[in-house]
Amino acid sequence: MPKKFYITTPIYYVNARPHIGHAYTTIACDTIARRHRMLGDDTWFLTGTDEHGQKIERAAQAAGKTPQQFADEVSAQFRALWKHMGLTPDDFIRTTSDRHKKGVQALWRKIRDNGYIYKGTYTGQYCVSDELYVDAEPGAPCPDCGRPTETVHEENYYFKLSAFQDQLIRLYTEHPDFIRPETRRNEVLSFVRGGLRDLSISRSTFSWGIPVPDDPKHVVYVWLDALANYITALGYGSADTSKYEKYWPADVHMIGKEIVRFHCVYWPAFLLAAGLPLPKGITAHGWLLFEESKMSKSRGNIVRAETIVDVLGADALRYFLLREVVFGSDGSFSFDALVQRYNSDLANGLGNLASRTLTMITRYFRGEVPYPSHSAQTPADAAIADAAKKVIADFAALFDQYQFSRALEAAWGLVAAVDKYIVENEPWSLDEKKDEESRARLATVLYTSAEALRIVTALAHPVIPEATAKIWSQMGLGDIKKFDLTQLQWGQLRLGTKLGEVQAVFPRADKSAVERMQKMEESGASVVTGVSPVQPSEAKQPMAASTETKPAAKPAPAIPDGKISIDDFAKVELRVAQVKTAERVKGADKLLRLEVDLGTEVRQLVAGIAESYAPETLIGRKVVVVANLAPRKLRGLESNGMIVAASPEGGKAVLAGFLEDVPIGTRLK
Ligand code: MSP
Repeated sequence: MPKKFYITTPIYYVNARPHIGHAYTTIACDTIARRHRMLGDDTWFLTGTDEHGQKIERAAQAAGKTPQQFADEVSAQFRALWKHMGLTPDDFIRTTSDRHKKGVQALWRKIRDNGYIYKGTYTGQYCVSDELYVDAEPGAPCPDCGRPTETVHEENYYFKLSAFQDQLIRLYTEHPDFIRPETRRNEVLSFVRGGLRDLSISRSTFSWGIPVPDDPKHVVYVWLDALANYITALGYGSADTSKYEKYWPADVHMIGKEIVRFHCVYWPAFLLAAGLPLPKGITAHGWLLFEESKMSKSRGNIVRAETIVDVLGADALRYFLLREVVFGSDGSFSFDALVQRYNSDLANGLGNLASRTLTMITRYFRGEVPYPSHSAQTPADAAIADAAKKVIADFAALFDQYQFSRALEAAWGLVAAVDKYIVENEPWSLDEKKDEESRARLATVLYTSAEALRIVTALAHPVIPEATAKIWSQMGLGDIKKFDLTQLQWGQLRLGTKLGEVQAVFPRADKSAVERMQKMEESGASVVTGVSPVQPSEAKQPMAASTETKPAAKPAPAIPDGKISIDDFAKVELRVAQVKTAERVKGADKLLRLEVDLGTEVRQLVAGIAESYAPETLIGRKVVVVANLAPRKLRGLESNGMIVAASPEGGKAVLAGFLEDVPIGTRLK
């Protein structure tokens, strides 16, 4: 029998459209769910939307819509976005659905019948933004989020939270892994040790919620309503409880750190009161910061996932978030860092390793995985095999502790090792030699590289599913989803495997990618289909805190996929230049520092052609330069433009040039 694995995201409030903070949790859960599916576990991954409460009611009012209309629209945006991003939840629960309402009422009855609910009156402060009863003086701000609180005086139902203080403390101490990471566990422990007061669990001064059973002028407190989603989605309280029997308790509730108290104190107490099993664990991650503060709608500093997905692809966002942010801590987002990571780890890292390895096998062995000859083996091959075996074990251990960044670092360490191995073993020179010994060595080097590539690809699949599926099929291995990850071992790449067509999976992103994403954010343009923005006042604001709404950009004429317009091409200023000086860059084997004459000025460029051209052979040569490229620094040297060269896979760069003489500075168009 396969092991079951049940993972959940928080259900997201529908008062605002989704941003990459929401995407972050959902991506982390999607990645974990994908790995469990690859390991053969019977996996259930739940997400959804939290649609009741005063906050949503007010947001709908402000938008001039009924709460239901409003919730329908925003919930649809979440679903459309998750689909657009290729996320794979098994279910999407809405708290306004009938199945959920019935389940919440069943849970209420159970807790009530067990004697943990009583009627009372609440007078005190309430934070609508957090949907939280707070201990504060009238007029004082919320101690959690700093926003104004409101005085509430209403008849309501109370939950005997105080009755669970000791059981909860025992739970946290006997099961130290119940709350992860430890810092959050300690916070919760000291909160509960400080004493628990009974909790108001109904509201009677507004109506946007689930009616309390047998007393419909009350609605269920939105956090009790919301937390119950984790069981109502499995059919708790319905006629068919088979999913509940199969998957509950959850293996992990993944949440952001701001909702720890609700999940680690209230939720287990509700379950204990109802006599239901507790989740096995709750993991809280940190916040995604943008411009130093938590990305959130109310701060107006959000970045939408669509923008990144449309420009760099969903894999780029997934990889960036899991590699760059230490899971559990806060992490900063910036477009520059995103593009840098994308280029260094995906385009130049895994993407380049895949295309150079597979292209060489295609070219030198007619596209069939060659036979590694034992007689041609060197310690370098064994070192790669050993490194790969270690990565398989390390990746699993780190991933299981949700240390995604370190797991990816380990896997990319192997990518770098294989890259170095290829450079040092020079398959292209071995191919030129044509003798039997070189041929055997060439086969061994390419087999070793391809096998390491296969291993990284399988491990990285849950994180970057799209690209790895392509690499897998280019390697002739079929559908990666069918691969059993428990069987991943060194040496399983079958000899003679016929490769598919080799194509780049991560095209390099240039500086304009950052600008494009920034512009899309400013204009609010998006390709997620069928969903209109929530309301004019929520159209994406410029990222700097500002309250002005910018007009949406005029839509560009339709251009077929993968093509650019003539206007796009005209943006690239290609000019003829003449090399004046050339020298090697210290400590960088591949780089040359050049000074080129563009007719109107002499510029410094840094070019990665040192392995192809000795510096002295370039002096006086006419070359093609991208003259309007934004400057960038390479090894501390500013490069003002780019020299154009053909870069055959695994071979030497060849500079673009002219058969006839051309004046310096002439534009190419
Ligand atoms: N509706 C409640 C949760 C109920 S769960 C029973 C809620 N919703 S929310 O829309 O505010 O989403 C909160 C969750 O979204 C966070 O806990 C986190 O998972 C994710 N994030 C939203 N903004 C985020 C960041 N800036 N950074 C990281 N995660 C963020 O609270």
